[in-house]
Amino acid sequence: MNIVILGAGAIGSLFGALLSKHHNVLLLGRKPHVSAIQSNGLHIQGKTMFHEKISATDTVKDVSFDVDLLLLTVKSYDTIKAIKQAKPSISKNTIVLTFQNGLDNIEKLQSVISKNQILAGITTHGAVFKSPGVVHHTGIGRTIIGELDGTETKRLKNIVELFDEANVPIKISHNILKDIWQKAIINSSINPLTAIFQCKNGYLVENPILFHLVSCLCEESTNVAKSMGYTFTTKYLFEQTIQVINETFNNNSSMLQSVERKSQTEIDSINGKIVTFGRKNNISVLLNESVCFIIKRLYQ
Ligand SMILES: NC(=O)c1ccc[n+]([C@@H]2O[C@H](COP(=O)([O-])OP(=O)(O)OC[C@H]3O[C@@H](n4cnc5c(N)ncnc54)[C@H](OP(=O)(O)O)[C@@H]3O)[C@@H](O)[C@H]2O)c1
Repeated sequence: MNIVILGAGAIGSLFGALLSKHHNVLLLGRKPHVSAIQSNGLHIQGKTMFHEKISATDTVKDVSFDVDLLLLTVKSYDTIKAIKQAKPSISKNTIVLTFQNGLDNIEKLQSVISKNQILAGITTHGAVFKSPGVVHHTGIGRTIIGELDGTETKRLKNIVELFDEANVPIKISHNILKDIWQKAIINSSINPLTAIFQCKNGYLVENPILFHLVSCLCEESTNVAKSMGYTFTTKYLFEQTIQVINETFNNNSSMLQSVERKSQTEIDSINGKIVTFGRKNNISVLLNESVCFIIKRLYQ
């Protein structure tokens, strides 16, 4: 299969490296990372150890083959720009699979490509970009993918096989849109608090005030999801959130990493979208509004 990784950063380079063992993979990323890979190969360290020559470029003009699968792994604020740039390499037969966090990526993709080309996935693998040419696989996680309408199609099964071959077990989701909401609710309850209070995930359960704020954010975000027709219970989502905090106790969330680097966060696609939907459906979103305000005021 011919695969392009659009956004060869942390998670994209990891998945690209693993898929390249059996398939033709081209990493599409930024110059320093691409140049380092072209000179010295790609180094994956940590839970996966990998050092291989792998094709990489910083321009879509180098995509000289028919792309069967495009993995979209840019941050959500880059989705529209990236997919527009890649459009010349996308044919009607190309499947575009997003592994991004946030509630607005599918909507953004649909403004540029046809809805029936889009698949969505969620992964709890952890990857951190260390330096050009080097990515750290920090945690082995779970990965699910699904058709937007929940059906179990042949192309979906083919992609599951592809990842299985690459030693990344994937499960099929029959309600990926709900799963994306679940991850967004969990992220909305953890990420901004760790970024505002500059703490590791685990501190959110150690500090009683932060623990209370996690619970309130989680309830508020869940109320918005319910107003959108997703049948969650607040208790279940809170338990899932605490489980994620415990599983990632010593991690710095991606939002904390972004603010430490003084780079843009994905807050608009997570808490920001929850605010938009909440306002539309007359659900109180005071806490989500507040964390959006603070993150933007302090760091953007
Ligand atoms: N890392 C993880 O463990 C993990 C796990 C699950 C889900 N996710 C989700 O996956 C997405 C990517 O996360 P990440 O941590 O891998 O981010 P990342 O390390 O920032 O990787 C994205 C890469 O794409 C590049 N990029 C942006 N626009 C591009 C374009 N038009 N053409 C080529 N390259 C482009 C970025 O370059 P610049 O930074 O220079 O713009 C960056 O190097 C996010 O939505 C994240 O929430 C990540």
